[in-house]
Amino acid sequence: MRLLDNEIAIVTGGGQGLGLSTATYLAEHGAKVAILDLDATNAAKQAENLSGLGHIGIRCDVTNGEERIAAIKKVLDTFGTIDILVNNAGVQYHSEAENMPEEKWLNVVNVNLNSVMFMSRDVSHTMIKNKKGSIINIGSIASFQAMPGRTVYSATKTAVLGLSRNLAVDWGQYNIRVNTVCPGYHDTPLLRAYIDSGKLDPEVIKGRIPMRRLGLANDIGKAVVFFASDLSEYVTGQAMMVDGGYTTYGAAGAIE
Ligand SMILES: NC(=O)c1ccc[n+]([C@@H]2O[C@H](COP(=O)([O-])OP(=O)(O)OC[C@H]3O[C@@H](n4cnc5c(N)ncnc54)[C@H](O)[C@@H]3O)[C@@H](O)[C@H]2O)c1
Repeated sequence: MRLLDNEIAIVTGGGQGLGLSTATYLAEHGAKVAILDLDATNAAKQAENLSGLGHIGIRCDVTNGEERIAAIKKVLDTFGTIDILVNNAGVQYHSEAENMPEEKWLNVVNVNLNSVMFMSRDVSHTMIKNKKGSIINIGSIASFQAMPGRTVYSATKTAVLGLSRNLAVDWGQYNIRVNTVCPGYHDTPLLRAYIDSGKLDPEVIKGRIPMRRLGLANDIGKAVVFFASDLSEYVTGQAMMVDGGYTTYGAAGAIE
């Protein structure tokens, strides 16, 4: 059953990883998708590969106001409206808090938090006019749990929850729903980089995931489609963990 025929969706950071798999899943459900990402060529190529015709890829650094406005205008000129916004673009930076470089902190805050606010603000005008919209923000297990060296990542991903709840409260009157999907450890280029550099051991991670596997990129797309579609038409301000039980697991050691 296709759940999103005739819906128009924007996915930020849709050029690879969880964003690309989310774009893929939205398109399989009938949505027309605009992939916004830093690399114009890749965004266009990935959009062309999605199922169905007419998807577009646009170069957009979501921290840049002029690029955001231009990208949203392009989506409106192409499709006429916007029904779904997935604020997925995100970056990590690891550092001991005592040595955190200010410009690195500010960059992560800009990408992971400020862009979520301002992309939402900039599409809200269309959604308010239509009295219809679903905004899905991508949080993390770090929205709920602390990990060594992840101060800025955790701070921004936790703030995304508060932002989502508040936007849900402010915009419920316009039939705009705002929810957060919180991935666990998913096998994407971002995670692979940490595994390949020896910073993360996939076997140790799997050792404390009740479902005993890393997440697949598609697991996030499925949760996003739920929040984007009428299946969740009376659900707003919520956070859904998609982590194989990682945050639920509370024992000290690995699963026997
Ligand atoms: N992979 C995981 O296990 C995991 C776990 C928890 C949360 N997340 C979150 O999921 C989201 C996607 O993660 P991923 O693993 O697919 O990451 P990724 O690094 O594989 O992909 C991120 C994408 O965002 C784009 N991007 C980065 N900065 C941007 C900017 N300023 N403007 C536009 N695009 C930008 C990148 O070009 C890239 O295509 C992020 O918000 C991340 O924090 C991922």
